[in-house]
Amino acid sequence: MQNIYELIKQRTSIRSYKKDTVPMETVLKIIEAASLAPSWANKQCWRFIVVDSQVEKNIIGRASGQHNIAKACEEAPYILVLCADPKESGVKNGMEYYLFDCALAMENLVLAAQNEGLSTCIIGWFDEKAIKAVLNAPEHLRIVAFTPLGYSNEQSKIRSRKKPNEVIYHNLWGNNL
Ligand SMILES: Cc1cc2nc3c(=O)[nH]c(=O)nc-3n(C[C@H](O)[C@H](O)[C@H](O)COP(=O)(O)O)c2cc1C
Repeated sequence: MQNIYELIKQRTSIRSYKKDTVPMETVLKIIEAASLAPSWANKQCWRFIVVDSQVEKNIIGRASGQHNIAKACEEAPYILVLCADPKESGVKNGMEYYLFDCALAMENLVLAAQNEGLSTCIIGWFDEKAIKAVLNAPEHLRIVAFTPLGYSNEQSKIRSRKKPNEVIYHNLWGNNL
């Protein structure tokens, strides 16, 4: 078990994977952590599809339209697809909270994976129709994101973030702390 701040700092998006297998038990442990996320009225709108069929992984990867992601999905032993039924969450002030619920679950998922020594890369840009077709997903379901899951095959690169004074204000908008 690592310190949570260290874990958060270490996580980076990984786009190249070893083909080494990962026990299903570990995958389920990671998904269980994801499903412990808070959600709108505890409705847990999320569903996780564990994909380890090579044919399906290839199709899902290609549906991203991104060459490096297609390769990552081919290589990694798993793709975890995060879906949601928007009706199992709420809408307030024009904001669709199923996306918020799923984002919380996905953050738990990527950090739990990191804690197991595994890597991920959240993918939000894809042909949803193509992915729904290969997964035989019902019409009302939305595919929110997916990630390859496996052992990294690249040097992890810490990407920069905005400085605290660009994102943290004190009492008033624009007022630096
Ligand atoms: C909602 C969302 C969608 C993303 N979609 C993609 C994607 O389609 N392709 C990709 O290569 N990375 C994608 N990413 C990964 C981001 O590019 C990455 O998190 C960001 O550049 C910061 O890098 P880091 O994760 O290594 O810290 C996505 C991340 C999020 C949160």
